[in-house]
Amino acid sequence: MKRHLISAGDLTKDDALLILDTAEELASVSERSIKKLPTLRGRTVVNLFFEDSTRTRISFEAAAKRLSADVINFSAKGSSVSKGESLKDTALTLEAMGADAVVIRHGASGAPHRLANWVHGSVVNAGDGTHEHPTQALLDAFSMRRRLGALEGRKITIVGDVLHSRVARSNVLLLGTLGADVTLVAPPTLLPVSVGTWPCEVSYDLDAVLPKSDVVMMLRVQKERMNAAYFPSEREYSRRYGLDRDRFAKMPDDAIVMHPGPMNRGMEIAAEVADSARSTIVEQVANGVTIRMAVLYLLLGGETT
Ligand code: CP
Repeated sequence: MKRHLISAGDLTKDDALLILDTAEELASVSERSIKKLPTLRGRTVVNLFFEDSTRTRISFEAAAKRLSADVINFSAKGSSVSKGESLKDTALTLEAMGADAVVIRHGASGAPHRLANWVHGSVVNAGDGTHEHPTQALLDAFSMRRRLGALEGRKITIVGDVLHSRVARSNVLLLGTLGADVTLVAPPTLLPVSVGTWPCEVSYDLDAVLPKSDVVMMLRVQKERMNAAYFPSEREYSRRYGLDRDRFAKMPDDAIVMHPGPMNRGMEIAAEVADSARSTIVEQVANGVTIRMAVLYLLLGGETT
């Protein structure tokens, strides 16, 4: 393993399998009445969040605490960032307090990469702009593997707002490394110009792809990042790219539905599909704690290169 986790593309197949296998071993801790291991006692994890988060922020905190690390939670709102303090000065201030690892979410793509040049501890990317969200991809792969077994040759369909999705990019990179076949389905306006260089197929016809999918991962339409009209109306988007009851019926009987959250229920995914027994959405949240325990354990407690 490298010292930092910034891109899913930095993980070799052995690295990815080591994280998934370590998470499998750590999963039993989350099922105990006392959910704690002494592994990272005396180590300090700083959660540095410049963008809003529910799942990622809370699960990194839970993961660090379950490994007995000390946790410092920093939120840009209410901090000296509002007085103009830079990312570098904020990071150096937190490092002076003894951070062994800094978990960062930032609106700017590349911020974790910059941070890694300024601090001595490990940097973990918890989502940077529209670039990457590697621990989300790891927890997604872990959730798929728990339901379906090994991912080699599995058909994974990722649907929706790929253009603004760091989750999509990290998933395409990691799932390719793990030997899965990924197809992206989106309106042309919601695909990045560079998608032709990504290790995946592209389709505009969701109904044609669904019957061949082992996993259908729906993406949130990220309205807060849209500064133009990318589709005629929400109703039109939902009609062509939403996973409703009729489309769900076209999936194979053992195929699963995923969503990284937060969801726009009724837009990219119907409530009854999100809440069905073949949806892993709640499992993904629980698995997020386990995967983040494995990442922190391997970066802070294991061998790094
Ligand atoms: N999936 C995800 O990153 O969710 P949050 O924005 O709530 O952390």
